Amino acid sequence: MRQSSLVVVANRLPLDDSAARDGACEWRRSPGGLSGALHAILQQTPATWVGWDGEVGLAPRLPDLGAVRLRPVALTAAEQAGYYEGFANSTLWPLYHDAVQQPVFQREWWETYRSVNQRFAEAAAEVAGKHAAVWVQDYHLQLVPQMLRELRPDLLIGFFMHVPFPPPELFMQLPRRVELIRGMLGADLVGFQREQAAHNLAQLAQKLLGAEASDDAIIVDGRTVRTGAFPVSIDVAEMRALATRPDVVKQVEQLRHDLGEAKRVLVSVDRLDYTKGIEHRLTAYRELLRDGHVKVRDTVLVQVAVPSRERVESYRELRDRIEGEVGRINGEYGRVGEPAIHYLNQPFTRAQLAALYQTADVMVVTPLRDGMNLVAKEFVAAREDGAGALVLSEFAGAAAELSQAFLVNPHDVDDLKQTLLRALEASPEDRAARMEAMRRHLAEHDILAWARAYLTELDHTGRLARRFIGR
Ligand code: ADP
Ligand code: G6P
Repeated sequence: MRQSSLVVVANRLPLDDSAARDGACEWRRSPGGLSGALHAILQQTPATWVGWDGEVGLAPRLPDLGAVRLRPVALTAAEQAGYYEGFANSTLWPLYHDAVQQPVFQREWWETYRSVNQRFAEAAAEVAGKHAAVWVQDYHLQLVPQMLRELRPDLLIGFFMHVPFPPPELFMQLPRRVELIRGMLGADLVGFQREQAAHNLAQLAQKLLGAEASDDAIIVDGRTVRTGAFPVSIDVAEMRALATRPDVVKQVEQLRHDLGEAKRVLVSVDRLDYTKGIEHRLTAYRELLRDGHVKVRDTVLVQVAVPSRERVESYRELRDRIEGEVGRINGEYGRVGEPAIHYLNQPFTRAQLAALYQTADVMVVTPLRDGMNLVAKEFVAAREDGAGALVLSEFAGAAAELSQAFLVNPHDVDDLKQTLLRALEASPEDRAARMEAMRRHLAEHDILAWARAYLTELDHTGRLARRFIGR
């Protein structure tokens, strides 16, 4: 097996299932912030990406994707259930997102989570060259840093958590909390989206391990683990280029025509996940229709909800509830040829997303809790015309950076309704000033800036960043 000097380890390879199975040599991004973000920086990088291809059974043989080598990790059906659907997505995911959905603790999932983490660590150890940097991603693989350090003490190990990392009051509920903290602290640098998360980890390390800890360093077993905030971003250049492509511009015209030229268009794009606040948004929209503040003849909502984690019961139930509610709203308020809501439960291409973002008068991004939310950033990057308003949840990591958005507390349906109306009725000058400020921020803080900041902090010399990120 060829070895690399940079190895990324993430639960998912950046492919959707069909691309992985037929071996097509192209990047087919699976929806989700992590793979989108890393996809943008790794295309030209001679790195190895260790991950699962999303299917059960033997690992497929995968060709290199551009300069990146893929090292698939196989999962059995029982492992998919215990590790991915179980401990990662039914225990950690809801708990880390403020327990907006009740976390499930099932003892038998732990052993599977641990053994799958061990397999990822072994795969990374196999493909990492001497003194290589290994960058482990997200809550699925929280034990990998420590396991990898035991296997390969020569490596420089980074860990980045894409999702929120909760305060002790929530984290302390977790069975196996000590192992999870120890696992992450196997890294040399633990990165988060927000400073608050680094503070939470410091408190937990003190409480659970008796470690000496501040918000930027934790001492464990005589080793210093650095921590910090590195807000992830998007490939701004890609989105801007897409937005001005002639076929995308045509799509925008077509969409505008199809939705009704004179109508005000609200757009939401989410993975179909209970953290995204889709139900709260639908409630607010239904009440705006009921109260007559919004009328079907002059306003329309487009809700894209891409299927996600459909084997997990809470996701299936959520889908049923959302589809029931969309049906009810359309049944009650729609007219022939004029639905109140266009609901699309399908994957979109990047070009289609770029077109949709430009169709929005108001982009509605209202998660109940979100590590970052890249959709909000994609929308801003796509608005080459400088128009369009963004309604953004205070509980998305992106709100700390996009503070000129119309910020909202999505748990408060009245606030949600008022903020939607404020955004719909804002003057073109107000919207343009807000959009310009957000675009300026994003131009400086794109995905390359994120990777450069993280890797520079990881190796302290800037060598890794220069070699792999360039400029
Ligand atoms: P999360 O990481 O929780 O999924 P983000 O908003 O950070 O949330 O990232 C979602 C990513 O998935 C974005 O890059 C977005 O463009 C992509 N995405 C969302 N909906 C779709 C869809 N219907 N088809 C394809 N990609 C999608
Ligand atoms: C979030 C997580 C990612 C995950 C993505 C899609 O962005 O932080 O780690 O890949 O959601 O979820 P999925 O379960 O389909 O990988």
